[in-house]
Formats: sequence, C-alpha cells, structure tokens
Amino acid sequence: MAIPDRFIEELLARSDIVDVVSEYVQLTKRSGSNRFGLCPFHSEKTPSFSVSPDKQIYHCFGCGKGGNVIGFIMEVENLTFPEAVEFLARRAHMEVPEDGTDRELRGRRERLFDLNRQAARWFYDNLSKPEGAGSVEYIRKRRLTKKTVTAFGLGAAPNDWYALVNEMRKRGFTDTELLDAGLAKKGKNGGVYDVFRNRLMFPVIDVRGNVIGFSGRILDDGEPKYLNTPDTPVFSKSRNLFAMNLAKRSKRDMFILAEGNVDVVMLHQAGFDCAVASLGTSLTAEQARLMKNYKEKVVIAYDSDSAGVKAAQRAIGLLEPAGLSVRVLKMEGAKDPDEFIKLKGPDAFQVLLDSSANHVEYRILAAKSKYDMNTDDGRLGFLRDATEILAENKSPVERELYAGRVAQMIGVSSEAVKAEIRKAAKNKAWAEKRREERQVTRPEVTAQPSERNYRYDNVPSALAEEGVIRLLMADPELVRYTDGLESGDFTAPFLGRIYDNIRARALERREVAPAVIAASLEPGEAAQLTTILQKPQEMSNAADSLRDYIKKIKTEAMRQSPDRDLAAYAEQKKKGYGG
Ligand code: CTP
Ligand code: MN
Repeated sequence: MAIPDRFIEELLARSDIVDVVSEYVQLTKRSGSNRFGLCPFHSEKTPSFSVSPDKQIYHCFGCGKGGNVIGFIMEVENLTFPEAVEFLARRAHMEVPEDGTDRELRGRRERLFDLNRQAARWFYDNLSKPEGAGSVEYIRKRRLTKKTVTAFGLGAAPNDWYALVNEMRKRGFTDTELLDAGLAKKGKNGGVYDVFRNRLMFPVIDVRGNVIGFSGRILDDGEPKYLNTPDTPVFSKSRNLFAMNLAKRSKRDMFILAEGNVDVVMLHQAGFDCAVASLGTSLTAEQARLMKNYKEKVVIAYDSDSAGVKAAQRAIGLLEPAGLSVRVLKMEGAKDPDEFIKLKGPDAFQVLLDSSANHVEYRILAAKSKYDMNTDDGRLGFLRDATEILAENKSPVERELYAGRVAQMIGVSSEAVKAEIRKAAKNKAWAEKRREERQVTRPEVTAQPSERNYRYDNVPSALAEEGVIRLLMADPELVRYTDGLESGDFTAPFLGRIYDNIRARALERREVAPAVIAASLEPGEAAQLTTILQKPQEMSNAADSLRDYIKKIKTEAMRQSPDRDLAAYAEQKKKGYGG
C-alpha cells in the first residue's frame, strides 16, 4: 500500500474502533470485554455484531463480516481503502502523508478520470457529426429530447475500430491508459482497438461527479444490448449505479430502480428524476447500501417479463436487509417503464407509483403463480409459501388483510389461514432465537474452518495454518519455535502472507495487533482473519500446539507434492483402476 505502514499504525491507534462503530451502531450488550450490537451489514433482531476493544477489530457472527476500523469504514461508507484512511484521518485530525508512490497512484487515477471525461465529451460531440447519425436517429426513435441528451451527456461511438483510440492518442493518452480505462482492447497483432463501436453512449458518473465508465447501447437488435466498461481502477460495476449522480439529488424520497438505461433516461425525462439502474449485473448488496446512504425507499420498476419478475424478487432480498423499504411496480399493459410512459404518460406512471404493491402482495402473487391452484396439492403448497411470507411481516394489519386474501384464493376460512401464520411465526422466532443464541454465546467452537469469506484448497492444512496464526497473534514470542516453517508451506496464500508479516514484525519488535495485520489484507481476507481469531485457542502448551500444527502443515505439503501424485498414480495403475 502506498500509504506508509507507520502512518496506518498511528491512525489505528488514534481511531478507537468502539468509538467509531458507536457512531453507526448502538452497542447495547456485553460479553466478556466484547461489545455487541445489531449488525449494520445484515438484518437481525438480536445482536451478533461484536466489537473487541482489545483486538481493535469487529466481527459479525451472523454474516461473517469482520476487520479493523478501516475495513469497517470501507464497508459502512462504501469507500475504497485510501478513501477510508482519508475519512478516519480527518476525524483524528491527522494528515495523510503523500509519498512518491501515493502521488503516482493518485496521478494515475486522475489520468483515467480525465481520459473518461474527454472521451465522454468526444462521444457527445460526435452527435453533431456524420459519424453520429445512427445514434441521433436512435435518440429520435426513442423520443429522447435534446435537454435529456445534454443532462445525461449521451453520445455516439462511431462505427469504426480506431476512432476513439486515434483521437485520444493525439491528445497524449497512452495505449496503456486506454486499456486501463476499459476503452480499448488489445488485438491479436498487439495493436489496440476501440471497445465501443456503433453504440449510443451513456457515461456512468459517480456520486462525486467523476466519469468512471460507460454503457453503450446497441442501435439495432444485436447482442449484447448493453456493453459496459469492465471493472477498472476507477470503475466497479457492483458499487455504482447508473444515474446515481442525478438521482441522489432528487427531491423525491425514493429511488426508482429500473433495468435498462433507456428506461432510466426516459423516467428522468418524464419527471421521475430519482431513477437508477444497475450496470449489467444483477443488483448487489453494495448498491443497496449506496442507495440507503441517500434514501429510505426503493420502488422496483423492472421489466414485466418473467426475467424481470425473478430479478425483482432477488432485488427485494438485497434491498430489505439493507434497511430499505421496498415496493414493486405492477406495470400492466406495458413491458417496461419507458413503454408505459410513452403509452400512458407521466401522470399514469405517478398513479402507478402511488399504488405500487408493497412487496408482500407481490411475493404472494409470485408464489401463487408457482402452483396449480386447481389441485389440492397446489393450493396447499401455495398456502405454505404464503404463510411463510406473512409470518415475516410485522404489521398485524397487513397480516389480517393478506390472510383474508389468501383465504379467498384457496377457499378456506381466514381464521384457518391466520392460525397457520401464527404457527409459522412461532417456528420462525424460535429458530431465529436458537440460531442467534448459538452465535452469540457459543461462537463456532468447532474445528471447522469457516469458509464464508475465503475458500480453502486444503482444509486440514488450512486448519493448522489458522492455528499457527492464532498462536502467533496471541503471543508473538512464539516465532522462535517456527524454524523450518515457510510461508510457501501454507496452502492458503493469505495466511502465508499473514505469517510472514507477523514474523517480520516480531523480529523488529513491532506491534502484532490484529487490527494492524488486517490493514494489509483484502476485505474478505480480513473478515476471514477475524473469524479465525474468534475460535478458542488453548495457550497453556502453546509451544507444543505450535509444533503439532507445523507438523500437520508439513505432512499435508508432502502429500500434495507432485512426486507424491506420481507415486499415487503409479500405485493405482498397478491395482488396475484409474486411467
Ligand atoms: N443491462 C446491461 N447493462 C446496463 C443496463 C442494463 O447489461 N448498463 C441489461 C440488464 O441487465 C437487462 C437489460 O440490459 O438485462 C435491460 O434492458 P431493457 O430494459 O430491455 O433495455 P432497454 O434499453 O430499455 O431496452 P428496450 O428497447 O427493449 O426497452
Ligand atoms: Mn426497456
């Protein structure tokens, strides 16, 4: 990392994790020296989110997230590592030092932003040149106004393999920069060519106003309909939303989530300036959190085909846990918001918004469509699903209302349905309580490595590797018993890196605190580290335990070595099986 280690350590020392987390989470419970509260990263009713003032890390026993205070800020504020450092530094009244590499890195990002901005401007200018004629015609056909085109900075990628590349080279950008920005690709002969050709261009602008990437829509019926910038140093599909830069400023108290960029643009044009879309992947938890940073409500306005219905159900499952209240539009008589507005006008769309089904109704209808309601089995299956859905619902009024509707649909009394719901609710509460009790009071005592955040190739070895890390973290003096163990023996590379890091620090007599070690890891790895540290570790015969772990790692390494594979292969051949 370009920010010096020493600075990170100082920053960690001055940013107490309990103080920082308390600004987001009420830490209501205690267990030993740990504090517990409701996890901000998944929905729960009893606290399984723990913060350790000693280790200066957080860990959620429910969703498995974990890390140090910097990782916490990255997650909760949706920031990159340097941004989170900047954020905490400001809070601690420290100044982030700018060493050479850091400035270089920053300079590189700035160059990519600049390149993207110039490309966007050039695409836009093409609309008034002959090479933009196809896009202009498309804009006319979709009935987008000049004002809309300007507000979104729409543009045209010419039908040419080198137009953008040549132009940006002339302006002093290198091929590497064009490749890094995802605007160009390398051809077989080593040359580079334009990624976006003959498409209507939608710049993607982040909440800070940087042009970070593009979606290009095809002008005819070809595939893919939308081509998006791949992930680059400045663009992450899963962390951004199309039109978020505009929608976050909307006076409406909700976001409208649509599927296609044309839908979003048309919605804005019709006055629904809170519309956004994801960027060619299905919705992610990060995008849900990004929305939650600005508003409390989301209305899903996906296409009305079966793919749209499925995607909506999936989206509900991500938006609700982020704490957003979700509704789903029932778009009858049109395939998508764009078509709806063109057919029936903005006022009709407003009516649709006002009457949007809350998702309980939506889910019940979706469940109904799964079953053949003409058979007893079908009706029973539907009843089971519907009571599950209603058992989650906390509002007694809604339960009453929908129990009545479900009863009607299957032709039984609403009393019977309500009794079923009560039973399901009781089961649910009971199961949840048991699960969370298990999680808080007996946090995974088993020897199973949790692989929620990180996949292990060799579980027996990984368990021993985890043990080594746990022991060394608890007592760095133990490094003197690690002779012969190299990070190369580790089957989980990130555990090997932690091992090297601990050894180097212990030798220099520097601090080996979990929070400091976590600072050098990727978020998923840091979360895995906090999981590892939650497991109990006997310290009375630490040196012996360490030797046992090392022995295990060595044997596993032997077993996995290529020679050994050959030997086993020969053995099998002799016995007459295998091939
Ligand atoms: N999509 C994508 N990249 C984007 C936006 C959308 O790949 N930046 C994908 C969505 O995942 C979805 C489809 O494109 O599968 C959405 O398209 P649709 O609503 O059909 O797009 P429109 O341009 O509105 O198409 P149409 O002309 O059919 O209304
Ligand atoms: Mn559409």
